[in-house]
Amino acid sequence: MSRAGKIEIFEVGPRDGLQNESRVLPVETRIALIRDLAGAGLRRIEAGSFVSPKNLPQMAQTAEVLAGLTALAGQVELPVLVPNARGFADALAAKADSIAVFAAASESFSRRNINRSIAESLAEYEPIVRDARAKGLTVRGYVSCVLGCPYEGAIAVSAVVKVAAALAGMGCEEISLGDTIGVGTADAARAMTAAVAHEIGIGHVAVHFHDTYGQALANVLACLDLGVTVVDASVAGLGGCPYAPGASGNLATEDLVYLLDGLGVETGVDLDRVAAAGRAICTALGSAPRSRTGQALAAKTKQ
Ligand code: HMG
Ligand code: MG
Repeated sequence: MSRAGKIEIFEVGPRDGLQNESRVLPVETRIALIRDLAGAGLRRIEAGSFVSPKNLPQMAQTAEVLAGLTALAGQVELPVLVPNARGFADALAAKADSIAVFAAASESFSRRNINRSIAESLAEYEPIVRDARAKGLTVRGYVSCVLGCPYEGAIAVSAVVKVAAALAGMGCEEISLGDTIGVGTADAARAMTAAVAHEIGIGHVAVHFHDTYGQALANVLACLDLGVTVVDASVAGLGGCPYAPGASGNLATEDLVYLLDGLGVETGVDLDRVAAAGRAICTALGSAPRSRTGQALAAKTKQ
């Protein structure tokens, strides 16, 4: 299959990004970030998660974040992560229009992340996904550690395919394949993605790379050649994973837009506006932007 002419960027910064920042941001700042990203043309923006605030205080008050964004309804989908029935009930009460459940291809990571075995997590997700679909919500399923695990090392492609197929089978419309610790390289990323696509269809696959070893863009490019049409990215390269020691930021949205613009692939995202959103959130966090494109554009703006 060949590269698509149009790619959807699925923005994870307000969730995967902010969940890993030591500074806990006020609700208004999280809302302003999502508004900025919507203004830049992003149409699916992960808004937060309904997980234990003891584990992840950065994601507390996601209900208030959604409540501040009702003006975006109908234009922008705002998915939220739910780990269990309690999280799903909270998401419904907050009128979420889209949820994501998150499993892993590694037993050790699954235990550390959500205190469940892979099988237990899938059993817990099944009724949630069924109910969410019946209520008209869209549902994404994540598979973490698809190219390596911080605790177990190498992960078999067959383990990834098994979990992805289980999530798709219970009704997740899109499966995001997460290289949680960013250890993958292009050929491995392509082979793993191809194996999952063979099982569930490339139209149901999204790719999610972290940039720990600077390989995220190369991995995206390798997977685009398979016909992948959804790529996850995080503004300013924010992020990592609190349960994956050593995992640095996600692929930066600015870097991805720059690549896709250069390839002539349509995204609907305005590079200057997303870079401005990146600068604003980095100021709020008191951190330097990690996006190379963001840094280059900021230097040009100053000239
Ligand atoms: P547990 O300890 O097994 O749960 O945690 P529990 O049912 O025994 O409850 C423990 C406490 O948590 C109780 O409170 C519950 O009320 C509370 P206490 O009695 O101690 O005061 N609780 C909740 N509170 C709010 N919302 C809930 C909820 N559930 C229980 N939904 C749990 C299980 C999953 C809750 C916990 O382990 C957790 O919150 N983990 C956080 C997981 C997480 O968010 N990880 C990061 C996202 S995954 C990721 O980043 C990877 C990804 O980006 C893809 C990639 O890169 O690969 C998606
Ligand atoms: Mg991630």
